[in-house]
Amino acid sequence: MRISIIGSGYVGTTIAACFADMGHEVVNVDIDEEIVAAINSGKSPIHEPGLDDLIATHGGDMLTATTDYDDVLDTEITFLALPTPSREDGSIDTSIIEAAAESLGGTLQDKDGDHVVVTKSTVIPTTTTETLAPIIEAASGKTLGDNLHVAMNPEFLREGTAVEDFLDPDKVVFGAESDTALDTLHGVFEPLIEQTDPAIVDTGIEEAEMIKYANNGFLAAKVSLINDIGNICKEYGVDAYEVADAIGLDNRISARFLRSGLGWGGSCFPKDTAAIKSAAREQGYEPRMLDAATEINDRQPVRLLSLLDNHVDVAGERVAVLGLSFKPGTDDIRNSRAIPVIEGLNKRGATVVAYDPVATENMRERFPDIKYADSPKAALDDASAALVITDWPEIADLDDEFDTMSTPVVIDGRHAIDRRDGIVYEGLTW
Ligand code: UGA
Repeated sequence: MRISIIGSGYVGTTIAACFADMGHEVVNVDIDEEIVAAINSGKSPIHEPGLDDLIATHGGDMLTATTDYDDVLDTEITFLALPTPSREDGSIDTSIIEAAAESLGGTLQDKDGDHVVVTKSTVIPTTTTETLAPIIEAASGKTLGDNLHVAMNPEFLREGTAVEDFLDPDKVVFGAESDTALDTLHGVFEPLIEQTDPAIVDTGIEEAEMIKYANNGFLAAKVSLINDIGNICKEYGVDAYEVADAIGLDNRISARFLRSGLGWGGSCFPKDTAAIKSAAREQGYEPRMLDAATEINDRQPVRLLSLLDNHVDVAGERVAVLGLSFKPGTDDIRNSRAIPVIEGLNKRGATVVAYDPVATENMRERFPDIKYADSPKAALDDASAALVITDWPEIADLDDEFDTMSTPVVIDGRHAIDRRDGIVYEGLTW
């Protein structure tokens, strides 16, 4: 099948490469000429395990990139994979995907026959049918349901494991209200369905839009709930990880997303919980549970710092911050829990020495004035305390590197480090 994808972010590029690998002819449209050139020369424009190989194999061949919307005309289906960022007040900003819908519609004026447009981006229910479809109809002169069809196909990829998640999904959700849209979507995913037999959810467009928010909201709330329970555990000297291991054996709870500690960051959970809460309020509904999830999440870095205060007055002292990315396996620092922790340390007058295997340059833009070390050992040298923010394997493996600290206080936000002789160790919830 011939497929076009608008947007070459981590979702757009990953699905483009994976569709090409499934045997489809894929064109990826993006306004950024550098990204386009990278893909056409077989290089991945983003850091994502497994993507380099797929783009090296298919880039410039089954997968081509372009800045020209006209290339969409040779395809049967277009996926919109554009950012839907948060506004200041947390509500969703759809201006980028709306602009893309307008450009796509203008191009589709010249298309004969059916075309299916699929929202891949995370959008509030009714966005596809009430915002994007009218824009495409007006710009293309086509009528919805006649030879223009819209659908919604939410994405559940995690950064750092996006290719793996795409190629072996738990479920694939198709939100479609016309047979043409549904059949075309099934055609796109057929090779994957045959290979991995995921659960297929055929549903309405608004339901598909909501499923994405429900999925992320539920997981964010699950982590916040285990953090709430974990904070109570800590008050009693109980190890929240032993508790989580036991409750995770109950199939109704499941063992995944039960790692308590510093909480969630990244580009998805914070943005999506804020957007669905804001949308709920617009409808006159108070989303109390999701509010509590956010509040608990905001509190975890504060609790980490208060544990630190119990051991050391850090004013004028070196403090090692170990890990800066929002989770291991990525250089993404968006909403990383390292940010409020560093702000808190700066407020206390500490000299922050930060280390991360890949995210240093990104964090340097956010905090140009703190010190950055090029190894965990250099960060720990002469430090009065160490804070573990991201559970990178090389941080979890630290051992006698702690010996050169001036006072070996280690506050672990991720259950990464083992208690050992010679260090004063505090876990956030254990
Ligand atoms: C998340 C979802 O897991 C994906 O399914 C979804 O497609 C994606 O958002 C999205 O909307 O695009 P991602 O943000 O890449 O993926 O990362 P996760 O692995 O879900 O982790 C999110 C945050 O939760 C991280 O900061 C992680 O450290 C934290 N977390 C996760 C915990 O604190 N404890 C856990 O048990 C699990």
